[in-house]
This record gives sequence, C-alpha cells and structure tokens, in this order.
Amino acid sequence: MTESLWTEVDRYIDERVAPPDPVLTAALDAANAAGLPAISVSPSQGKLIAILARSVKASRVLEIGTLAGYSTIWLARALPRRGRVVTLEYDPKHADIARSNFARAGLSDSIEVRVGAALDTLPPLAKEPPFDFVFIDADKVNTPEYFKWALRLTHPGSLIVVDNVVRDGRVADETIDDDNVRGMQRFMDMLANEPRVLATVVQTVGAKGYDGFALALVTA
Ligand code: SAH
Ligand code: DHB
Ligand code: MG
Repeated sequence: MTESLWTEVDRYIDERVAPPDPVLTAALDAANAAGLPAISVSPSQGKLIAILARSVKASRVLEIGTLAGYSTIWLARALPRRGRVVTLEYDPKHADIARSNFARAGLSDSIEVRVGAALDTLPPLAKEPPFDFVFIDADKVNTPEYFKWALRLTHPGSLIVVDNVVRDGRVADETIDDDNVRGMQRFMDMLANEPRVLATVVQTVGAKGYDGFALALVTA
C-alpha cells in the first residue's frame, strides 16, 4: 500500500461519487492562485461531511477553520432552506478569498464568516440558537478547547466532526514532542472521558494522505 495508490483510488472514487463542479473547482483555483495551502478536505471527504450534516438534518452548522471555504461550500449545500453556516477564520486574507468563493457559488446569504481567533469568536455564539452540526478544522493545538465549545453550543442529537485526528499515525505516539499532535492526544483523552457523546474515530487514506476524522454524537 503506497500513497500513490491511495491517491489513484481517491481519484477513482471522486470521479464517481464527488465529481468536480465549476463552483468547487473555482474555489480551489482561487485558493491556489492566492498561495493558500492545499489542505482543504478532499472531494469525497467534503461529501462525507455534507452527508453527515444532512443525516442529522442540520439547519445550523458551525465550522471552525474556513481557509478558502471549500468544506464550507459542501456544508452549505447540505442545508435545508433558510439554513445557515457560521464559519470561523483567523486569517482575514483567507476570509476574503472564502467570501468571494461563496459569492461566486451563490451562497453568500447562507454563509457567515466571522474573522478572528476562534477562542474569541466562539463565546458570543452562546447567545445564539444551538448548532446541529459542528466541523472542527482549525489549528490543532486548540482542538480540545474547540471541542469543549462545540459541546456548549450544541444539543442532544447534534453531531461534532473533527478533522486531522490521526496525522500519519502520530496520534498514537505517546512520546511525540509536537504541540499539534499533543493537542489531538488531549482531545482524544477528552473524548474517552466524555459521557455526553457517543464517539469514534475513523482512519482515512487518500489524496490527503493518512489521517482521520473523529465523530461525536451529542447524546446528553
Ligand atoms: N476547513 C477547510 C480547511 C481549513 S484549514 C477546508 O477543508 O476547506 C485551517 C484554517 O484554520 C486555516 O485557514 C487557518 O487560518 C485557520 N485557523 C488557524 N488558527 C485559527 C484560529 N485560532 N482561529 C480560527 N481559525 C484558525
Ligand atoms: C493541516 C491542516 C488541516 O486542517 C489539514 O486538513 C491538513 C493539514 C496543516 O496545518 O498542516
Ligand atoms: Mg483539516
């Protein structure tokens, strides 16, 4: 099993279940042209989070970590009428590119980008109605804090999805000296001891390498 095989199979899968469309292609092209890192979810992963959001009938979606808004577009397309995505982004340049991608996609009315460090933009959301689906995909160091906020901002039946949990398997290396991996390990320990969710982690391989998603269904 090699990374090139995973990538080839991802291409095969994407061609069938998540073929490119003009809006998503333009969003990635704009991200590349602006020199943003190629760390958006893959097409089939975008479709996965869209399916998960639809499965819980999410009409209020929260995303932490917008980048160019590729995952945001998948989530916004999964909304029912009058649904809304709030997406949090630290970098104003990323937020600008994302907003222009949403405008081109005709999704400006259903997506709101809030600029700032997520730890500053999360607390005011407590005054708004709860979210039905949360996608955590920003800096990895603060993932445990983001997960705590996700629990605070959701309700029983909401689904919380966390990206980049496995990171080439480094999550299982207890001796590792890397703040990002340490963040994910702290998050995993939190998940293991959190009685309010039904949670698991799915390892993934593909065009984005070897990684994984945590899925946490809020039960209480
Ligand atoms: N969800 C996107 C990819 C997000 S990449 C997709 O799949 O298409 C991670 C993003 O998180 C980057 O744009 C980065 O600027 C942002 N980020 C990093 N630290 C952050 C913070 N403290 N608060 C909010 N966003 C942050
Ligand atoms: C990185 C961040 C991501 O959200 C991702 O999916 C892949 C890589 C990164 O910061 O390297
Ligand atoms: Mg990610």
